[in-house]
Amino acid sequence: MDLKEKIRAIPDFPEKGISYKDITTLLKDKEALKATIDMFTDLSKDLKVDLVVGPEARGFIFGTALAYNLHAGFIPIRKPGKLPHAKLTQDYELEYGKDSLEIHEDSIQPGQRVLIIDDLLATGGTLLSTANLIEQLEGEVVGIMTLIELTELKGRDKLDKYKVESLVSYP
Ligand code: PRP
Repeated sequence: MDLKEKIRAIPDFPEKGISYKDITTLLKDKEALKATIDMFTDLSKDLKVDLVVGPEARGFIFGTALAYNLHAGFIPIRKPGKLPHAKLTQDYELEYGKDSLEIHEDSIQPGQRVLIIDDLLATGGTLLSTANLIEQLEGEVVGIMTLIELTELKGRDKLDKYKVESLVSYP
């Protein structure tokens, strides 16, 4: 299936000159959603994943479905102030500004094999910060997967020590 056909591009959102990639059109399409999760599952089936980690908010959508398929646990990476227990915080740069990400300190045990998943690789700041949080907890990042990659932003370069897979790319 051509997943790109299922993603809606919105011109000039959230600001002029940006072509926003709206995945809600893919998510509501039962065949496209299934094909997406099946592709992620195929790409990760030999990685011996213990935990899938997904950044808020769209990483949760694909992350839990994939974790279910892999019979792995799911760990949410959250925006500041959302997690209730002891946590680590990492500042990061967004495509459109700055923010921080947090993870519960007790979410990963040393040596656990962790797969990161999100909807979009843009600048790579979110995924790099996520990998840093996992590594601070001594988890092993065995792969990073996204639905969409915006290749011009060269986020993949920031992640060159990891195995990175994306299903659909845009220049
Ligand atoms: C978007 C997207 C990725 C991130 C990619 O999330 O879902 O997580 O930006 O950008 P980067 O590669 O430049 O870091 P956003 O922060 O907009 O959060 P949301 O999913 O909660 O809307």
